[in-house]
Amino acid sequence: MFKFQLLSATLALFAILASGHGIVTTPTPRAIGDAALAACGAAAHKVLKSDKYGPIENAAAKVDSGYNATACHLFFCRGLQYEDNKSNTRVYKTGTVVPFHVDIEAHHTGYANVSVVNLATQRPIGTLFLWPVYTNNSLGPADWPKNETDFEVTIPNLGTQCTKAGACAIQWWWYAYNGQTYESCVDFTTA
Ligand SMILES: *[C@@H]1O[C@H](CO)[C@@H](O)[C@H](O)[C@H]1NC(C)=O
Ligand SMILES: *[C@@H]1O[C@H](CO)[C@@H](O)[C@H](O)[C@H]1NC(C)=O
Ligand SMILES: *[C@@H]1O[C@H](CO)[C@@H](O)[C@H](O)[C@H]1NC(C)=O
Ligand SMILES: *[C@@H]1O[C@H](CO)[C@@H](O)[C@H](O)[C@H]1NC(C)=O
Ligand SMILES: *[C@@H]1O[C@H](CO)[C@@H](O)[C@H](O)[C@H]1NC(C)=O
Repeated sequence: MFKFQLLSATLALFAILASGHGIVTTPTPRAIGDAALAACGAAAHKVLKSDKYGPIENAAAKVDSGYNATACHLFFCRGLQYEDNKSNTRVYKTGTVVPFHVDIEAHHTGYANVSVVNLATQRPIGTLFLWPVYTNNSLGPADWPKNETDFEVTIPNLGTQCTKAGACAIQWWWYAYNGQTYESCVDFTTA
């Protein structure tokens, strides 16, 4: 019995180590809802909803005929839709310092950045934070850089680009070299 439990624990640990797993928890990022269901289809929506921390590739592997790539944009804001969480749009004026917290469930070496993104073109407008190496899984907890999970970004002067709700978001983007992508979006306007 003990051996069996040990084996299960080891397998569970492997399952966690095999994928990175992370999400922004501060500010509260865009949430999943019915618009994501309509855009991404039932199968992908189910994966996204059941594991908020999981790699986007897990949802991509399950897409069904209800998946609309244009509407869902799985690899932009994780396929989550602005329409599902409009009331979660913040106002950040130029110079606002925004504290972030990322919850990393399991480390996996990769690359990460945080950018202001244009929601219509799905392109970055400006980079706010960049980690050339992110969550190096060869390091023990004592050596984990604090800014991988707790950092601040300063809203740059974006002119009129982000004055309308639904125009811009801040996207945290982590690409782990084992081929796993993690994204969280925080919707905001500057006015
Ligand atoms: C997919 O989404 C796009 C953008 O929202 C929309 O224009 C198009 O009609 C949708 N396609 C289908 C088959 O629903
Ligand atoms: C969207 O954000 C608001 C404000 O934070 C929250 O109360 C609401 O539950 C969110 N919507 C969904 C679908 O989670
Ligand atoms: C941010 O990371 C993504 C994923 O690795 C990458 O495609 C994008 O070019 C990066 N942006 C910047 C400004 O480095
Ligand atoms: C990760 O950390 C190990 C141990 O310090 C180091 O040898 C390795 O070069 C690091 N990996 C990257 C990609 O920086
Ligand atoms: C994040 O922390 C690391 C290690 O402490 C440091 O080398 C790096 O410059 C910091 N990155 C930024 C963008 O401040």
